[in-house]
Amino acid sequence: MINAQVKKYSQELNQVGIKHQIIEHPHLTTVEAVQQYLHDSVSGSCPTLIMKADNQFIAVVKRGGTHLDSGKIKKSLKVSNLRLANKDEFVKVTGVSVGAARILNPGLLTILDKHLFDQEYLNGGTGSFSCTFRYRTADFKKIPNSRVIDIAAASTENQGKKRILSGITPSGDGLLHIGNYLGAVKQFIDIAKDHECFLFVADLHALTTVQNQKQLQQNAETLILNELALLMGELGEDLPNVTFFRQSDVPLHAELQTILNNVTPLGLLRRAHAYKDKLTKEVAEDEINLGLFNYPILMAADILLYKPDLVPVGKDQKQHIEITRDIAERFNKTFKTNVFKLPEPHIPENVAVILGTDGQRKMSKTLGNYISIFESEDTIKKQVNSTYTDPTRIHANDPGHIEGNMVFTYLDFFGESARVRELKEKYQQGTVGDVEVKEYLFASLLHTFKPAREQFAKLRANPTKVKAILESGAAKARQEATKTMSEVRDAIGLTNQYSFFKYTG
Ligand code: TYM
Repeated sequence: MINAQVKKYSQELNQVGIKHQIIEHPHLTTVEAVQQYLHDSVSGSCPTLIMKADNQFIAVVKRGGTHLDSGKIKKSLKVSNLRLANKDEFVKVTGVSVGAARILNPGLLTILDKHLFDQEYLNGGTGSFSCTFRYRTADFKKIPNSRVIDIAAASTENQGKKRILSGITPSGDGLLHIGNYLGAVKQFIDIAKDHECFLFVADLHALTTVQNQKQLQQNAETLILNELALLMGELGEDLPNVTFFRQSDVPLHAELQTILNNVTPLGLLRRAHAYKDKLTKEVAEDEINLGLFNYPILMAADILLYKPDLVPVGKDQKQHIEITRDIAERFNKTFKTNVFKLPEPHIPENVAVILGTDGQRKMSKTLGNYISIFESEDTIKKQVNSTYTDPTRIHANDPGHIEGNMVFTYLDFFGESARVRELKEKYQQGTVGDVEVKEYLFASLLHTFKPAREQFAKLRANPTKVKAILESGAAKARQEATKTMSEVRDAIGLTNQYSFFKYTG
């Protein structure tokens, strides 16, 4: 609602000659929430800070998303102390609520961040949480008693750090198996320490097969706990480099998919494995849901929104990364832009395809040939015991083969190398049996996943913590995705620059 205070402020701006459009919205108390509602990035805003410089209050209007270098302000004003006004001081000086500061603060010296002028229009506060003004930045220089300074601190955040991104679909029952771990999650963990990481639960993707409210919810929650437990088990509880979120908490994935639909030829999708596999099964083409057919476009949107350098996945996802690159190139070429960065898959050869316990096909939930990570010890024991070894070996003292023997394949990843070497030799000589090597595999798995299994129990008992991680992850992801989406909208002509100035005098 445009209240009397906002109307008065608008008149004051008009008197000074600062053009602005009045935008009404629901009650929103943070810059991020407003920008998100307006489909704009934080860098499209201009928050005002009220500060105390020695004995005088000043207003500092900065570009959203930039960090202040207070030293630069002190130097320019020749003051020795500079701090943010406290709540009482803020209200007294501005006459508006904390968080609703305006750019025009009569009587105060106003410092204008040089970077405000990098953009033609910026959104700023109005004193009301239900209204935002969209300003023409060139007019800021008309603010009486104002001065332009370069106040931005050089950004150190993520400097030089490459970005990785990956997703896992909560299909089946949402539980992870050692194929997912070795093929994707472990790759992610191994490079997480010196990379900026985005990892998400791809719940929108699960809709191609999971079409039951309770099941989808349960699967997503299970997968969330599984992934977080693995990350925390190996990286510690803080996860400083990791942004972990649920795909559906960032609706921009779906919006970008809609846009990318238009630069994706049918032929590209017809060649996608998931669709082709479905066709070779019992299903008639007319019955295949469009979600499955379209799946690679949603995956391209998932990736391109965050501009990652590397995407750690198993080999089954390689084609999807290639399709993503293809779509990104088509978009960039069509709209004569370079908004999208072409991602590289990260697929180490030794874990590209982890075979299942049948020793024949890729480990997968659907085929039932998996060893899980978080199920009960009894279940894992059964899965280990059913693992394919050497069918040519009839008696325990027959010399056995280790090539293609899945117990040894898994032991190469999870066992202690000297012990594995010794067991291999003994197995080939016929001096150790299947039972013993399987027992060692079982013990090695429990040992490897002990910290993660403990984290799993802790997280399950602490939903508040999990919720907080998801919320902050989603906020960070939305912030990144919003930046890319404003560039995308700009590139294709969806940025509506209404001719609103004629309405504001
Ligand atoms: P999903 O959920 O089927 O599998 C998750 C990850 O585990 C890998 N993987 C394997 N790697 C080696 N051997 C195996 N037996 C094995 N089984 C599974 C998969 O390759 C994958 O990396 N479409 C994706 C999820 C997704 C995504 C994304 C990934 C959605 N958007 C964006 C990366 C980037 C999928 O269904 O994976």
